[in-house]
Amino acid sequence: MIEKDFVPKPYTNTVESGTVSWASPSNIALVKYWGKKAHQIPENTSISFTLNHCKTETKISFKKKAATNDFSFDVFLEGEKEDDFKPKIETFFKRIETYLPFLKHYYFKIETSNTFPHSSGIASSASGMSALALCLLSIEKQLGADLSEENFTKKASFLARLGSGSACRSLEGPIVVWGAHYEIKGSSNLYGVTYTGAVHESFKNYRDTILLIDKGEKQVSSTVGHNLMYNHPFAQERFKQAETNITALKHILEQGDLDEFIALVEREALTLHAMMMTSMPYFILMKPNTLEVIHKIWEYRKATNSKVCFTLDAGANVHMLYPDSEAQNVLKFIETELAGYCQNKHYINDSVGLGASAL
Ligand code: DP6
Repeated sequence: MIEKDFVPKPYTNTVESGTVSWASPSNIALVKYWGKKAHQIPENTSISFTLNHCKTETKISFKKKAATNDFSFDVFLEGEKEDDFKPKIETFFKRIETYLPFLKHYYFKIETSNTFPHSSGIASSASGMSALALCLLSIEKQLGADLSEENFTKKASFLARLGSGSACRSLEGPIVVWGAHYEIKGSSNLYGVTYTGAVHESFKNYRDTILLIDKGEKQVSSTVGHNLMYNHPFAQERFKQAETNITALKHILEQGDLDEFIALVEREALTLHAMMMTSMPYFILMKPNTLEVIHKIWEYRKATNSKVCFTLDAGANVHMLYPDSEAQNVLKFIETELAGYCQNKHYINDSVGLGASAL
């Protein structure tokens, strides 16, 4: 599908008011998206595990109004009016108006909450933007838009991408690919698709424990971060490497080779940080405790032959990925040896999940 396929035909129904609500999960990238072109087009393919428990729940109450030249909405986070979110949503609305031409005809009350603590440092843009996209699309459906179930998910992902790139990987699960890759049938730069290649038993119900090393505000916004890849001396090599890693991961997922999985996932995480450390301006987003934890994980792996590995977002928190069969042992290791490195000993246990759901 191309962009213009997402522009709807004239609506057939009139709706005065209503409410819609969706829960949408966060996701953790194995091969990272870092660098984009205009219109939220990624420089490379990325692939992620969808999470089960870290979710944003969003309800929109909408009411018809006289069409003006402005968008009209209010945002509430956990019941409190949150005007700080408005500019990002305004930008999102501007980007998607062509695809949802009813946006200026309604007032929207957007009420949102996260199942994970807001101040945890967990990026909520993926879950938040995908939940918002789903709510808006549900309204479009009420207006009579002709959307099959498959096209509904595709368009939700297409819209979510325009809010935040990684959000387009949060609609479905357990594994989602975004970015056209010649070895992944149906993959697109415009939306995420469920990975349909063979996946070995070892990856079923894979676990992710998020160690909250630093709950502070993000040091570098993702927009600034992605921009650092323009004119980055290593950018082109990095984009090529990501494509190669997608091919490699395809085989790893099929074969269930956990040692290869560890090597690829950890290298991807460190490459992401290496890009930030070598851009201009440069950033170090890891904290001393991030490194402490990484070394502990490596020691534990050596001592026990565990298949636990780490990955990182654009921040200091550590995601620990491990097979379900190791859950008991790894959780004990976390509690006794790693919790002390987390702010207020705080960590979140999650696992790979199936995607968004209507509420
Ligand atoms: C490091 O999706 O937050 O998490 O498109 O500017 O909203 P925008 O960026 P965003 O970038 C996330 C980057 C990452 C890696 C990833 O999730 O692939």
